[in-house]
Amino acid sequence: MAESITITDNRTGESVEIPIIDGGVDAGEWRKLLPGIWFSDPGLATTGAASSAITYLDGDAGILRYRGYPIEQLAEKSTFPEVAYLLIHGELPDEEQLAWWTHEITHHTFIHENFRKRIFDAFHYDAHPMGLLVSSVAGLSTFYPEAKDIEDPENRMAQIIRLIAKMPTLAAAAYRFSMGLPFIFPENEDDYPTRFLKMMFEVGSTYQTVEALRKAMRVLFILHADHEQNCSTTAARVVGSSHADPYTTIAAACGGLYGPRHGGANEAVLRMLNEIGSFDQVDDFIAAVKRGEGRLMGFGHRVYKNYDPRATIIKDAAYGVFEVTGKNPLLDIALKLEEVALADEYFVSRKLYPNVDFYSGLIYQSLGFPTQMFTVLFAIGRTPGWLAHWNEMIEQDSRIARPRQLYVGPDARDYVPLSER
Ligand code: CMC
Repeated sequence: MAESITITDNRTGESVEIPIIDGGVDAGEWRKLLPGIWFSDPGLATTGAASSAITYLDGDAGILRYRGYPIEQLAEKSTFPEVAYLLIHGELPDEEQLAWWTHEITHHTFIHENFRKRIFDAFHYDAHPMGLLVSSVAGLSTFYPEAKDIEDPENRMAQIIRLIAKMPTLAAAAYRFSMGLPFIFPENEDDYPTRFLKMMFEVGSTYQTVEALRKAMRVLFILHADHEQNCSTTAARVVGSSHADPYTTIAAACGGLYGPRHGGANEAVLRMLNEIGSFDQVDDFIAAVKRGEGRLMGFGHRVYKNYDPRATIIKDAAYGVFEVTGKNPLLDIALKLEEVALADEYFVSRKLYPNVDFYSGLIYQSLGFPTQMFTVLFAIGRTPGWLAHWNEMIEQDSRIARPRQLYVGPDARDYVPLSER
């Protein structure tokens, strides 16, 4: 059987045969036969907007791999800096490469004092930390104007390193500002998760990190590190395709992540569990969701039509954290919600399973993070993924993102003066 499809324009009888390559068909061929007729694909649900060698995802089988490596193995055996290296460079680092990379992402963690004082302090005391993150990442572009030279691979790598190094510093600065706590400088001797935990929670040199909590942080960063063409990565690719600098590009990605349908879902899950309030309210809540009164947050996914493999790993990691911190009281409500939903025809028929955000919030809360910080944590983890896609796109010399529309507005009409309307 030919690996191609044939499209016939029944108005003219003309046909075009388009080869199927890497599981896709070239829309350029379609365009040649049918100029001015566009695919209607809201949400780009059936459009392969990029060719990418970074992450493989099979939503039906529940498979996720970074550069070919199964997420389960990386979560168990790797570190976040190593995974970041893998995503950006395509291969696991050898010892020398890892030493260089670790040194680089450790020695670019500082943010300029003017930046912290003038930019952060300009916000209202209760500003949402994602708002601070979006703004401060964009603001970094003004401190590194050379970042605009995106054609130079060495220059791109310098900004990639800065962004991976500085995201935890910006995140912790946003949190400490919102709590009225003094800023804590990053410690070079610490590993990536430990440095971040200390910048967040240190008070008078008394903060002790616990191995189980550091491990949970490491696993959570790794699980969030990439997820192919999701909303925020697509935002990065679209903005980056205009050749905007990487700080502005990553700020756009942070904006995409902020919303409750994407990275903001972890925060929304916690709010939902608190609103449900008790175990015996779960059935009523599910009934309300089925009546169309809101969604079960942390459930469903555009691509996974099976259990999200990240949710399985997170659920296990949660128990490791609860052994140290005590069980999160919301866990029972979450478990009951999952049980009821997975046995309910509404969720089963729509293939709605827990996603990465369903259990992550419970761990974050037990680690001591306030709910508003949850999406910021997701952003730290996702930064290497966004940057890997941005770098790949620039290397591929891709075209500017500029989709078409199917116009459904009024026909041409004459302007009516205000007095006659
Ligand atoms: N609760 C109840 N019903 C749902 C849910 C949900 N969480 N998700 C989807 N549905 C229903 C939806 O109403 C629709 O039903 P019908 O066919 O009767 O109209 C059907 O399932 C298909 O939904 P959809 O909106 O077409 O699916 P989508 O692929 O466009 O949306 C999603 C995917 C993740 C935005 C959606 O499932 C959702 O809103 N989930 C809750 C938010 C969430 O947990 N987001 C985190 C996603 S994973 C991490 C990340 O990427 O950030």
